[in-house]
Amino acid sequence: MTKTFDCRRIPARRHVLAAAMLCALGAAGVPQARAQSAEPIRIGLILPMTGPFASTGRQIDAAVKLYLAQHGDTVAGRKVQVLLKDDASVADTTRRLAQELVVNDKVTVLAGFGLTPLALSTAPIATQSKTPMVVMAAATSSITQASPYIVRTSMTLPQVTIGVAEWAPKNGITRAVSLVSDYGPGIDAEKAFKDRFELNGGKVVETLRVPLRNPDFAPFLQRVRDAGAQGLFVFVPSGAGAALMKQFAERGLDKAGVRLIATGDVTDDDILNDMGDVALGAVTSFHYSAAHKSAANQKFVEAFQAANKFRPNFMAVGGYDGMRVIMEGLKSSKGAGGDALMSAMKGQTFESPRGPVLIDAQTRDIVQDVYIRRVERQGGQLWNVEFETIKGVKDPGKAGAGGAPK
Ligand code: PHB
Repeated sequence: MTKTFDCRRIPARRHVLAAAMLCALGAAGVPQARAQSAEPIRIGLILPMTGPFASTGRQIDAAVKLYLAQHGDTVAGRKVQVLLKDDASVADTTRRLAQELVVNDKVTVLAGFGLTPLALSTAPIATQSKTPMVVMAAATSSITQASPYIVRTSMTLPQVTIGVAEWAPKNGITRAVSLVSDYGPGIDAEKAFKDRFELNGGKVVETLRVPLRNPDFAPFLQRVRDAGAQGLFVFVPSGAGAALMKQFAERGLDKAGVRLIATGDVTDDDILNDMGDVALGAVTSFHYSAAHKSAANQKFVEAFQAANKFRPNFMAVGGYDGMRVIMEGLKSSKGAGGDALMSAMKGQTFESPRGPVLIDAQTRDIVQDVYIRRVERQGGQLWNVEFETIKGVKDPGKAGAGGAPK
């Protein structure tokens, strides 16, 4: 164990000289500077590790660990320490944990944020303490506007919704019902879908919103049958898609010929394989599929599966890329946080397992390719197989952002 020396205490006689030397050196700043540079850089990672959205926490935590195992946990001569905290997806807990991490643990970065309300509750803390906050999961468009210290590596709902909203009317679906979880990202998805679908000649005949927690989809799905829609557009957050699919089949909507179209949150790679045949043929648009064909993704999926025995989903990629943005940022800022780290994170461009990405310096949001995919069985497993790419999509939910696919 290392002993620390307190210069305010009067030392025993035989130690006077050594003590004086130590304190003089301390006053000159030498050992303190060294001690300071040896201080680890702390990242406060707040995730739902328990409760209904625990799969998001499990995916991101595993990806953060993988990134550090692959790239090393030292930057600017200092160790990087990740302090993982479980907020159980309760916003008050997220805010309290963030406060403690900033004040007591002196973290350089806050990261994680599994759901929109959790990110929004923490934004004022990032602003007040000038602590960069890397949103690895939450995806309501407006989140990056909640603090100038937020950078996002996940996606936004409008960004990933417009692809399928354009695809559907061109492929025989012109009458649709939309069904979304009733909170920020769901409202974003509902609006983006209706606007883009109707711009392309479709008609949304009914918009349905289901509670975020413990939704019972059955009565809503019955209304979809009654509305005589050709397609059902769905957004539910990661993890909730399995229950939706099950009830979609139980209500016989697949047999009645209603086509399921959705954002990729619904056919989440974490749970897709357990959904069974009902998922086959579902068309979604999204920024990440574990089946994405690139050398970078193959390497990522193999390493992730070897370490975890489960398939990475888009949450894992948000976490993995979030760590990339933080670590490369810290390299450039030489370990400094605050505004120096913010500038070093803005404008980063790199190849992610999902494809090429950019952290837009103006919006601090991610710009990325969005893919149209179909659920297929390949090699005995269900996959989201990409068959069309929309290049470089900005969040169209923000005023002034282009983002319209060609
Ligand atoms: C969100 O709450 O912002 C959120 C969570 C999970 C998703 C998408 C959005 O899959």
